[in-house]
Amino acid sequence: MAKLLTIQGGKPLRGEVHVRGAKNLVPKSMVASLLGSEPSELRNVPEIKDVEIVTNLLSIHGVKVDRDAASGVMTLDPRETYSAEHTEIDTHAGDSRIPILFCGPLMHKNGEAFIPDLGGCRIGDRPINYHLEVLRNFGAVVDKRPTGIHISAPKGLRGAKLELPFPSVGATEQVLLTAVLAEGITELKNSAVEPEIHDLIAILQQMGAIITVYTDRTIRIEGVSRLSGFRHRSIPDRNETASWASAALVTEGDIYVRGAAQRDLTAFLNTYRKIGGEFEVDDDGMRFWHAGGPLNPLVLETDVHPGFMTDWQQPMVVALTQANGVSIVHETVYENRFGFTEALTRMGSSIQLHRECLGSNPCRFGQRNFLHSAVISGPVTLHGADIDVPDLRGGFSHLIAALAANGTSNVTGIEIISRGYEHFIDKIAGLGADISISER
Ligand code: EPU
Repeated sequence: MAKLLTIQGGKPLRGEVHVRGAKNLVPKSMVASLLGSEPSELRNVPEIKDVEIVTNLLSIHGVKVDRDAASGVMTLDPRETYSAEHTEIDTHAGDSRIPILFCGPLMHKNGEAFIPDLGGCRIGDRPINYHLEVLRNFGAVVDKRPTGIHISAPKGLRGAKLELPFPSVGATEQVLLTAVLAEGITELKNSAVEPEIHDLIAILQQMGAIITVYTDRTIRIEGVSRLSGFRHRSIPDRNETASWASAALVTEGDIYVRGAAQRDLTAFLNTYRKIGGEFEVDDDGMRFWHAGGPLNPLVLETDVHPGFMTDWQQPMVVALTQANGVSIVHETVYENRFGFTEALTRMGSSIQLHRECLGSNPCRFGQRNFLHSAVISGPVTLHGADIDVPDLRGGFSHLIAALAANGTSNVTGIEIISRGYEHFIDKIAGLGADISISER
């Protein structure tokens, strides 16, 4: 039965939440363990749906995964891996995009891999053309079948000279996870350099990989013939941290995020301060609160790291509905990441979407038919509404809006949020919100 979350808005969120390992790193580190000839240990593992999906996918390939949920310690033993049935992969992949990252490791281990129909959030087409192109360059044979994509490496995988059309996080991870055991040298230009990529590189280096990152977005990987295991503590989830920070701002609350780290939030914190949020940092986490007085409108463009991340855009748009004036947000990473504003408009926001690039950086979507710029006028009084969550980040932003709104909101589809936000209902309740959950 589906869950219904009922929120009586209008109470400032106050108190403490604990943020653990990054959703956009932990599942990939788990995939990396497949490359090893020995067991690995991963710490700071959160209890989220994406971790569960990868646990199941690894298990059907023979990897023994043990996890202590409370301490967040996971061990992964890949010493007896084998190929899995396509139907089994299909069943366990759910709506995650992670299966595509199994290709390199599985080809190294078993000579073949299978990718079912890929899901992920509804935030654009989310194609896999970069992934397939780099895999072909390593020597893989890609066979598209009605059930999914079968990939094999009849002559093994060899290092290659590669350049991405856009610094894609997933395609960079694909290259790393494939090149480390490929024969010879791989050079990847225009790679992503997100903190989660650096953490994955640290893991692979521990396993025995030789990887150099240059300042011009080039990564060079010298293939080795064998990798061992790793012992690693995941970086904290900077997107979850930014979400709680935004919730503190919009509800005029005060939230201490235990486990948060300042270093990978520079662009977010600059924006947070400009709009009217305050923060302080200590060794164990970060505190976020509303500085008092009206919030300031601003012009914001999402970008690849070290820019303002696309996953911070949605909670920040909710904050901008409360700013005193007109704000502009230009989304340059995904073509269709403003779908969540439809519910905000029903809740009383004034948000217009535009096809033009309304920022100073023209992006790939400017000449095409995508509503990828938003003009937000504030401040408005938000009121409760019935909401069906469209995607992970958009969904959490709806919760923030509902928590700040006057009146009652009924939210369905909240299962999507558990893909990336650990125990979020308990956390929201613990911050003093007036919420209840029922089945329907
Ligand atoms: N792209 C292609 N072809 C490809 C791959 C990507 O055109 O083969 C395009 C995408 O459509 C998009 C752009 O390249 O327009 C960037 O996509 P990227 O590959 O960087 O994204 P991803 O690896 O699929 C990860 C995160 C996203 C995060 C982005 C950007 C995971 C599991 N997902 O996605 O996180 O927004 O990087 O940093 O790591 C989220 O957490 O809610 C989320 C969507």
